[in-house]
Amino acid sequence: MNFSAFWVEKEEDGFKRSIIQREIDDLPPGEVLIDVHYSSLNYKDALSATGNPGVTRNFPHTPGIDAAGEVVASQAADIAVGDQVIVIGFDLGMNTPGGFAQRVRVPAGWVVKMPQGLTPHTAMLLGTAGFTAAACIDKLESAGMRQDGGPVLVTGATGGVGSVAVSLLAHLGYEVAAVTGKAAQHNWLRQLGATHIMSRDEANADAKKPLLAERWGGVVDTVGGTMLFNAVKSLRYGCSLAACGLVGGADIPATVLPFLLRNVNLLGVDSVELPLVEKSRIWQRLATQWRIDLSPLEETLTLETLSAAIDRILAGDMVGRGVVKLQP
Ligand SMILES: NC(=O)c1ccc[n+]([C@@H]2O[C@H](COP(=O)([O-])OP(=O)(O)OC[C@H]3O[C@@H](n4cnc5c(N)ncnc54)[C@H](OP(=O)(O)O)[C@@H]3O)[C@@H](O)[C@H]2O)c1
Repeated sequence: MNFSAFWVEKEEDGFKRSIIQREIDDLPPGEVLIDVHYSSLNYKDALSATGNPGVTRNFPHTPGIDAAGEVVASQAADIAVGDQVIVIGFDLGMNTPGGFAQRVRVPAGWVVKMPQGLTPHTAMLLGTAGFTAAACIDKLESAGMRQDGGPVLVTGATGGVGSVAVSLLAHLGYEVAAVTGKAAQHNWLRQLGATHIMSRDEANADAKKPLLAERWGGVVDTVGGTMLFNAVKSLRYGCSLAACGLVGGADIPATVLPFLLRNVNLLGVDSVELPLVEKSRIWQRLATQWRIDLSPLEETLTLETLSAAIDRILAGDMVGRGVVKLQP
């Protein structure tokens, strides 16, 4: 059977994107063949589509680190034909053909059964970005973050991780402050639940000072660089920052002072290799107590509109979540 797939080829003068027809036999071996109903666009997919070797080394390639849909063949005892499932992370869309295609074949160890309360569509409206926002909040709460502990800062707030983090934190009763470079989206962020909006310049100011005024009861940081460490320097005593992204840079201009003098914590968050049991636990939370209406974040994409959206996410211009509809 043929299926449609987004296709990135390496050429002498760069990387060419197209849509092609592929055969099931073209897919790598794996226990579970999935009819992909929805995928989603993440920043990492754009890196894959433009040949970033830290993400994808082998071309031609189909990106897409997220996929949700229905099992059409399974050699795994606990996964049956007809099951609805989610796959995010591991090697999907990196060097394994990814979710920007109507079919994927993956190892059973990558597959999470769809929790009751989510559908392939709502799971991919969350996708890796939403899952990561939830993983950050989960880790911050485990480290002691509480609703009465002060406002929580979200950086890169209009992006995929950021916009889900703002929405989820507001839903959970936190006071939310948002950093954005998009002046036109302040009202949108307020509608999602942010009560205080900062510019990137404000969030990057006073970078040379060893400590800043204590403000935040927690931080979800998607940006890295100066913005990350300024936020660490502004944490209230004993509070934590969850670091998950690097759109602003991978280096951190850091000293040990906030850790020594304010007892604060810098927490790392990874959604890719997180063990399946942990992934399932967080998806379960997102399907129950943390289930929220994310429709204000949605932009529907198709294989045909994906290439332009990849350029927009690379330029930092995407707002909310791009959900890729794979079936007619
Ligand atoms: N650790 C993990 O497992 C994991 C999982 C998912 C994502 N990530 C990482 O998290 C980051 C965000 O991913 P995403 O999918 O949410 O991307 P995204 O949708 O492109 O959002 C990133 C947002 O960051 C802001 N931004 C962009 N360039 C910036 C710059 N130079 N300086 C400051 N802010 C900038 C923009 O928001 P504003 O215009 O509102 O400022 C942008 O919308 C990426 O680095 C991604 O690789 C990591």
